[in-house]
Amino acid sequence: MPEQNPPAVTHDDARPGPASMFAAARGAPALPRYRNFVGGRWCDPLSGEWLETFDPATGRPWALIPRGGAADADRAVAAARAAFESAAWRSLKPTARGELLRRIATVLERKIEAIAAVESRDNGKRLVEVIPQLRYLPKYFHYYAGLADKIEGAVIPIDVPDVFNYTRHEPLGVVVAITPWNSPLMLAAWKIAPALAAGNTVVLKPSEHASASTLEFARLIEDAGLAPGVLNVVTGFGAEVGARLVAHPDVAKITFTGSEASGQRIAAAAAADLKRVTLELGGKSPQIVFDDANLDDAVHGVISGIFLSLGQSCIAGSRLLLQEAIHDRFLERLIAAMRDIRIGDPSDPKTQVGPVATREQHAKVLSFIEQARRDGARCVLGGHAVRPAACGAGWFVEPTIFVDVRPEMELAREEVFGPVLAVMRFGDEDDAVRMANDTRYGLAAGIWTQDMSRSLRMADRLAAGTVYVNTYRSVSTLSPVGGYKHSGYGRENGIEGIKEFLQVKSVWLGTGPVANPFPKDAG
Ligand code: NAI
Ligand code: MG
Repeated sequence: MPEQNPPAVTHDDARPGPASMFAAARGAPALPRYRNFVGGRWCDPLSGEWLETFDPATGRPWALIPRGGAADADRAVAAARAAFESAAWRSLKPTARGELLRRIATVLERKIEAIAAVESRDNGKRLVEVIPQLRYLPKYFHYYAGLADKIEGAVIPIDVPDVFNYTRHEPLGVVVAITPWNSPLMLAAWKIAPALAAGNTVVLKPSEHASASTLEFARLIEDAGLAPGVLNVVTGFGAEVGARLVAHPDVAKITFTGSEASGQRIAAAAAADLKRVTLELGGKSPQIVFDDANLDDAVHGVISGIFLSLGQSCIAGSRLLLQEAIHDRFLERLIAAMRDIRIGDPSDPKTQVGPVATREQHAKVLSFIEQARRDGARCVLGGHAVRPAACGAGWFVEPTIFVDVRPEMELAREEVFGPVLAVMRFGDEDDAVRMANDTRYGLAAGIWTQDMSRSLRMADRLAAGTVYVNTYRSVSTLSPVGGYKHSGYGRENGIEGIKEFLQVKSVWLGTGPVANPFPKDAG
């Protein structure tokens, strides 16, 4: 594992990790070079090229990851396909697959802190957020380990004479899992755990902005005893190694989390040979506060919805709809709660807001802020890039709130994926539903009210895959997550999550004589 603190360490520095995980550095001082994990081996990219991965707190590169190309994609798919077709994998009973997943959970549990430090360094998420997220990670593996041998077919009470009919749920084959930079390992677990439990093999491609924690995780796979090729990790750009994985004819399914534009590209490419696709594409999720809400709870829920992880969350509650009567009062409390927030180093436990994960994302957030100003929205909190002392040229932005946002403004319509909240006001319940649903997205929605009947009516009427009432932002391995409309299709987590990686076969067995359809004595 690369050292945590100095931004540049040479390959030969003492590291606890196996040397095979890193490529030999040519020339010194060099950044540690990660390698791809394919067919159970650590290998240099066939492309021969590496990319710098940056530490968002300093804006400086801290490690190199393989810049995989088409040949790397092909090699990984070949390894996954060979593993899928191997007698060893095919004959492994679902219960034994479950045991493998439990072993992954066990080896992962021992390494959480170390992997969290790598992830925090690579994507800038605060360590105090990453650690609890990763501590929960083994639960995904345990959950799907338990489910692996409970995927039951049915005996169909068939309405045809002299046959017996039953169904089997079978794996699809090679699954390509593509993840983004905001929560790389958690989102990888959402994909890998059910895919493997269902009996598929996997090629995982993490984001070029934050691949390191996924490669660290791959190291555990060796310890967990997965057969070579069952899980492979290749890194690089979406348009290069990613696009080839999506286009590869031996891939049965793509499961993707990321931007709407990439999701559309992937679905279009996958359509060429009818690959299955699951897409989770973010949103513009509304938080709706009624005048009878517990305002303290609602303030806290709104803050965690948009300012934890700096709004770099697919379910970020980025539109705040306030009922007229409490509009001003609520804003006052919200702004007061956000004053004097400590912005700084994500590894410092006192830091409340860290950096944005990528240089591009930093520029994008700032351009949304500028456009909102030009469109006539009023900035009542933050609104600027900042440079906290001791963080060099890191990618920091103040938590930002705009009021007087109108539905046609860019800030009301487009996903910022940053710490920018768009506030609007509404009159009654119908108004709230209309405004909340006035978006092409539909990932999540929050309702804050003490009126139980109203919360149920609203939950029915909101077009979103997840509705939260008087709470926000929870996810669990047990409950399905996914989008309505442009937020994507397919579901992750829960029992729904494993169905995405299975196909159903109907088997017919004759139990009686088979009649000649053209009898000789037919008149
Ligand atoms: P992206 O969608 O470009 O990247 C996500 C993943 O897809 C990465 O691993 C990338 O390499 C891969 N990828 C991209 N194009 C591909 C292609 N044609 N074929 C195969 N793989 C491909 O997201 P990016 O550029 O990192 O972030 C841009 C915006 O996406 C953000 O500003 C945010 O709005 C949104 N986003 C949404 C996320 C979510 O959780 N729904 C997560 C991250 C970003
Ligand atoms: Mg990085």
